[in-house]
Amino acid sequence: MSRKILVTSALPYANGAIHLGHLVEYIQTDIWVRFQKMCGHQCLYCCADDTHGTPIMLRAEKEGITPEQLIDRVWHEHKRDFDGFHVDFDNFYSTNSIETRHYSDTLYTRLKEAGLIEIRSIEQFYDPVKEMFLPDRFIKGECPKCHARDQYGDNCEACGAAYQPTDLIEPYSAVSGAKPVKKSSDHHFFKLSDPRCAGFLEGWIAPPHVQAEAANKLKEWLHSGLSDWDISRDAPYFGFEIPNAPGKYYYVWLDAPIGYMGSFQNYCDNHGLNFDEFWKPDSEAELYHFIGKDILYFHALFWPAELAHAGFRTPTGVFCHGFLTVNGTKMSKSRGTFITAESYLNHLNPEWLRYYYAAKLNGSMEDIDLNLEDFAARVNSDLVGKYVNIASRCAGFISKRFGGKLGACDSIATEEFVAAFTNGEIAKSYEERDYGRALREIMRLADVANLYIAEKKPWEMAKQEGREAELHEVCSTALTLFRDLTLYLKPVLPKLAEQVEVFLNIPPLAWTNAWAPLPTGHAINDYQHLMTRIDPKQIEIMVEENKQSLAPPPEPAPARHAEHQQAKAEAAASPWEPFISIDDFTQVDLRVVRIANAEHVEGADKLLKLTLDLGDATRTVFAGIKAAYAPETLVGRLTVMVANLAPRKMKFGLSEGMVLAASDERGGPFLLSPDSGAQPGMRIK
Ligand code: MSP
Ligand code: ZN
Repeated sequence: MSRKILVTSALPYANGAIHLGHLVEYIQTDIWVRFQKMCGHQCLYCCADDTHGTPIMLRAEKEGITPEQLIDRVWHEHKRDFDGFHVDFDNFYSTNSIETRHYSDTLYTRLKEAGLIEIRSIEQFYDPVKEMFLPDRFIKGECPKCHARDQYGDNCEACGAAYQPTDLIEPYSAVSGAKPVKKSSDHHFFKLSDPRCAGFLEGWIAPPHVQAEAANKLKEWLHSGLSDWDISRDAPYFGFEIPNAPGKYYYVWLDAPIGYMGSFQNYCDNHGLNFDEFWKPDSEAELYHFIGKDILYFHALFWPAELAHAGFRTPTGVFCHGFLTVNGTKMSKSRGTFITAESYLNHLNPEWLRYYYAAKLNGSMEDIDLNLEDFAARVNSDLVGKYVNIASRCAGFISKRFGGKLGACDSIATEEFVAAFTNGEIAKSYEERDYGRALREIMRLADVANLYIAEKKPWEMAKQEGREAELHEVCSTALTLFRDLTLYLKPVLPKLAEQVEVFLNIPPLAWTNAWAPLPTGHAINDYQHLMTRIDPKQIEIMVEENKQSLAPPPEPAPARHAEHQQAKAEAAASPWEPFISIDDFTQVDLRVVRIANAEHVEGADKLLKLTLDLGDATRTVFAGIKAAYAPETLVGRLTVMVANLAPRKMKFGLSEGMVLAASDERGGPFLLSPDSGAQPGMRIK
């Protein structure tokens, strides 16, 4: 029976590049959708950019463009990257759309009618210079517990304390530096604490709506009591103004999931589909959201509670995945493992990564590791060594000896394959998102095919008189097996599968035509090389290219809800290990330097060229701090450099070291300064 399925991936923020971490999710979802489509189901994959909020507003301002211009530019970058990785959305839209506005208003109004919206006055920090309320992450000050300076408004990096921004000692605005004042204002709250919400969620939070491990976490949150959710923000804000509430805007996280509806409505309008059939409460269609574990709270508590009380259907399933690590640790800009989609595509084949991620994904919430050595080894041995090898060893004989026409198929040799298709294990694994298991079974079948070829030795038959018929059968059989393996791999390797369809001269492979052998007399095309091996050098070059000593960090993401800190803390276990020894540290020669000159570099949009005075020497360093510092403000000031860093040849010249600065997703870079009295050339130890 044909199913109707609507699938989404989380909407990426419109102020940063797609990186390999994001791609875990988009590739995971794309494989699932392609599988469903190959089974003949109506499966629609909708996504959009998440475009609203303070960070995007401030980022556009900093770049001197409108938020609309910024989100338009980023949309095209994101689309390019997704296309590059063959992530085939049926619609990739934007939350800044009339459709998303429409459904935001609909949900809001219906929740209000249901008595689930409450307006309350709350006191918050306000930047009197910038004339705006400050999100927690844009306020800094002294930690009320340990008195560390320059801590952010929601928790202290030094002692780990969590607090309200109003608890900070001597707070200041990270936007203007001004001293914020406390100011009250009316906010709109979604009353999650209402017994109707808790009652509904109590029943809803369970498999198959969420994975068992997610259900445990969610129940914990639910039973510790849900607080009402602040869903409005005051002007100036880039977003949708709330109806009949001038100067009040929906908080970005309110309209973001509604963007799923907006994107789908837009698809319906362009393809003559009925939106309500998928979104009405008793809909027979299935609805699945693929998300990362950091946004589970929003998708499995707020979102279903909103939908249930606004007259819409709730998700059939929220599929949560873990985070990507590279070589066993968090992606890191200094190690070059924070790899953008764009730079990956400049060096490597997207299907290699699709295969590797698929091999690692098992439908759980565990983190997945991209080990770059293992990546090359795995792809080379499985895809090139086992799979492609089958075709490359047999195709030539068919072209050269049999006029490109296939002979009979050896039905004994295909038995295992027929059995595997009939028992449906591979399909089941795909359906359950256990792609690792699917690929293990597929590679087992590839071994069976290779063993058949190794036993028959077609290359020997080809040299012996009178074995034409045998040779014809063996090669034809091998190509039928190759066809079947291609079908099984097609959700993961869609472009390769297309090439094989052309080579074998067959219609698009679907899950219904697996076992019938390619018919006798069927004409195939000449074999063209299908896939090369990964040369580890290509990986090295890519990592080198992503190594940034001082890149301007992405703008801070909208601060996620306080309740959500828990999940975040778990994602970042033990950031300090492995420890280094004091000897490791003293290998780094840190020196005080005076910035003797700073200038723009023609053609570089991130770099400044610094001339550094070390007392008895000068050095040239290219630093990625252009977004944060005007060159003239730097000349004459003291800072800190790594003096014994190997010089690096860059596009614009030789960089002889590196200056130090602090940054993370909340802001920066902030250059380091020594206390007064320090002199150029002094060693820091
Ligand atoms: N804009 C929100 C989602 C709104 S959905 C209505 C957001 N955007 S994001 O760009 O930060 O992340 C998009 C998706 O990518 C999220 O599901 C997130 O979990 C996932 N990932 C981002 N970095 C990741 C890794 N390093 N590893 C795996 N997935 C990660 O959150
Ligand atoms: Zn502290």
